[in-house]
Amino acid sequence: MSPTVITRFPQDPSIEEEEELTKQCKELLLSLPRERGWRTPYIYLFQGFWCQPTEIQAIISFQKHFQAKDSDVVVATIPKSGTTWMKALAFAIANRHRFASSKNHPLLTSNPHDLVPFFEYKVYENNQVPDLSKLPEPRFFGTHIPYPSLSNSIKNSNCKIIYISRNPFDTIVSTWHYLNKIKPESAPELTLEEAIEMFCKGSVGFGPFWNHLLGYWKESLERPNKVLFLKYEDLKADINSNVKKVATFLDCTFTVEEERGGAIEDIIKLCSFEKMKELEVNKSGKSIKNFENKNLFRKGEIGDWANYFSPEMVQKLSKVMEEKLGGSGLSFKMLS
Ligand code: A3P
Repeated sequence: MSPTVITRFPQDPSIEEEEELTKQCKELLLSLPRERGWRTPYIYLFQGFWCQPTEIQAIISFQKHFQAKDSDVVVATIPKSGTTWMKALAFAIANRHRFASSKNHPLLTSNPHDLVPFFEYKVYENNQVPDLSKLPEPRFFGTHIPYPSLSNSIKNSNCKIIYISRNPFDTIVSTWHYLNKIKPESAPELTLEEAIEMFCKGSVGFGPFWNHLLGYWKESLERPNKVLFLKYEDLKADINSNVKKVATFLDCTFTVEEERGGAIEDIIKLCSFEKMKELEVNKSGKSIKNFENKNLFRKGEIGDWANYFSPEMVQKLSKVMEEKLGGSGLSFKMLS
């Protein structure tokens, strides 16, 4: 039996279509609950989280083949929480001795998603199984996959996971703008009401949002040497101490000489929103298939949600977040 014919975005070439999928993956999709998607006709509930067909195929391949090394660094997020920023920071911090001169730093000519590739969009895309064993160490990877679905080899090795989270209100606004930028031309605009509704139902990419956060949060409490749990708002408020925290977590604490010589400030500047947004590679390049780099840099602020949310929207989302995150010890700064 072939999957239901999908006609929501007829003949739109920007849509990831099902011909990219193996027969096995197509069969699996038939057995999964699904909801209307915004970039693809449907998103599917796979291993307890929502994602798109080609992501599911890549995640299966990742789970089967990825062999972690103790020196690996994985940057994990739910989309629109500061992934690009954290990838840049982690890469710059851990590689600061390799790229001592800031003039030819790879971050000046490559987008962070090229230097820290996603398992599900790059490394294992199109059912490929690359040989990663010869990559220079530490190897850097990024992922939106929830903690329980990471490969056992990641969970059981001493590799490090840096997780960055963001308050749900700004995450929704960022997601809403982003989805409208990257949507297929033939698809209708997503309204903020619809974005909030999707979020509250849990059916956003790699969501439910709260499960994603709680999975990494719990692990960070149980194994603080394994998972470093950060918040976008904390980095905005005090980037200096967070850069130091990441360095110590990655076993490469800044020396007093480095601090005195301005190594921390150099990294902060290199990875700043203003600097990154203006780089040619981030204005014109495409680092992830179908996604223009320029859309990764919008405002980079805390509290933009207040420009869009009605009191009813605030009430609705606050109620869901209280129900889902209340008692977890997790809370977020909402305004700058
Ligand atoms: P806004 O849409 O609120 O501006 P992700 O990288 O996970 O896709 O998250 C995107 C969000 O991070 C966007 O938020 C984007 O502007 C912001 N961002 C990107 N680079 C940043 C940086 N270097 N510093 C701070 N925020 C950044």
